[in-house]
Amino acid sequence: MTVSAGEYATRRGRVAEAIGEDGIALIPASPERVRNRDVLYPYRPDSDLRYLTGFTEPDAVAVLAPGHEDGEFILFCRDRDPDREIWDGLRAGPDGAVREYAADAAHPIEELEEYLPRLLGGRERLYYTLGEHPAMDERVIAALRGLRAGGRRGARAPASIVSLDGILHEMRLRKSPGELDLMRAAAATSARAHCRAMRAATPGMPEYRLAAELHHEFERDGMEPAYPSIVGGGANACILHYIENAATLADGDLVLIDAGAEHAGYAADITRTFPVNGRFSGPQRDLYAVVLAAQKAAILAVRPGYDYEAPHRAAVRVLTQGLVDLGLLEGGVDELVEKERYRRFYMHGTGHWLGMDVHDVGDYRQGDEWRELEPDMTLTIEPGLYVPAGSEGVDERFWDIGIRIEDDVRVTERDPEILTADVPKDMAAIEALMAERA
Ligand code: GLY
Ligand code: MN
Ligand code: MN
Repeated sequence: MTVSAGEYATRRGRVAEAIGEDGIALIPASPERVRNRDVLYPYRPDSDLRYLTGFTEPDAVAVLAPGHEDGEFILFCRDRDPDREIWDGLRAGPDGAVREYAADAAHPIEELEEYLPRLLGGRERLYYTLGEHPAMDERVIAALRGLRAGGRRGARAPASIVSLDGILHEMRLRKSPGELDLMRAAAATSARAHCRAMRAATPGMPEYRLAAELHHEFERDGMEPAYPSIVGGGANACILHYIENAATLADGDLVLIDAGAEHAGYAADITRTFPVNGRFSGPQRDLYAVVLAAQKAAILAVRPGYDYEAPHRAAVRVLTQGLVDLGLLEGGVDELVEKERYRRFYMHGTGHWLGMDVHDVGDYRQGDEWRELEPDMTLTIEPGLYVPAGSEGVDERFWDIGIRIEDDVRVTERDPEILTADVPKDMAAIEALMAERA
C-alpha cells in the first residue's frame, strides 16, 4: 500500500499551479539529529517533502519551479557513495531521483549553492518556510544576497519570501483515498495494539511492559510509534503528557494508554482507559460513563457544515452536565459552560487534525471564525476528565482518576467514519475483552 507516482505528480502540479510561473518553492528534508556522540535518532522524514515527492532520505531539497527551463521538479539529494552506502544503506542518488521519483532533473546536494541563484533569479516570489532549518535558511539567504549584490548585471532576487504552508497544508488537510487507506492501516494496527494491552494488563505489572505490548504489535506490522506512548496508571493518568511509563500498575486503578502507530508517514492516535484488574469500580464507572457520552456526542458533531469547534462544544456540555450530576460542579450547566468551570477537570481541547503529523497541519480558523468541516478531513475526538488527589470539594472516591477516550474520525458526507472503531470503548465490551485473559 503506497501513494502512487501519479498522485505525487498531481500534488506537485497543484502546488505549481498555485505558485505560478513567477514563483518558486523550496522544500528541504529534515536534518538528521544527534542522540548522543556518534549515534543519531532514527530518521523521521519531513512530512511536506514526503507528501510532494515520496522521497525519504535526509540531505535533500526539492525545488518546484513552474516553467523553468531546467525542469519544473528538481531534486537535490545525496550523491551515490559506495563507501558510505556500505555503512548507512543505499541512496537513490541523482539518477535514482530522476528514475524512481520522477524528478525532471537532479543534482548532488553539494551543488545546491551553485544552482540556487540561477533557480531563484528572476522569480517574483520565493515560497520557502524560514526559521525551520537554520542551515538551509543560511544557504537561501546567501543566494538572495548574491543575487541582490549582482542586481544590475544579472537576474533580480525574488521580491518576497512567502511560506509554502498556506498552500501545501491546505492540501494536506483533505485526505485522498490513498492517504485514507494508509491511515486506516495505521489505525487498524493501533487498535489491535490497544486490544493486546487490554488483554495483557494485570496488577503488579510495570507500565513499560504494557507499552512493550503495544510496540510489539506496531513493529510486527513494520510500524513505529507516531509519538511517545503514554501508559499512565492511577494518578499518572492525570498527567497529560506522562511518558515515563515506569510505575507499577495497581489493583483497583485505571490505566490510561495514549498510543498510535505511524505507517508510511501517517499517524494513528488512540486513547483508551481501562481497569488494571479488568473490572471498573463504582466511581470509575460514574466518571467513565460521562466521558464516553461526551465522546459519542462530539463524534456526532463531526459532519460537513458543522464548524471545527462543534465537537468540542458538544463534549463540554455533556461533561459539564455529568460533573454537576456527580456533584463535582455546582450550578446551572449553561453558566458553568459559559464560565468554563469544567476546565478544572477538562483542560485540553477535544481534538486536532490528524494525518502525516499526529497534530497535523491545516488552519483551524478562517478569519475570526472556526472553519467548517469538509469531507475527508480527519481529526481526533478525545475528551477526558482528570481528578487529581486533593481536588477540593470533590468526594475522595473520585480522586486520582484520569480518563480520556480518543478515536480518529473522518468527515464524510453522512455519518462520520471512525477509523479506530476496532478497539472497544464501552465498559461492558472492555470488561468482556479483558475477561479473555489467561
Ligand atoms: N497523543 C497526542 C494527542 O492525543 O494529542
Ligand atoms: Mn490526539
Ligand atoms: Mn492521543
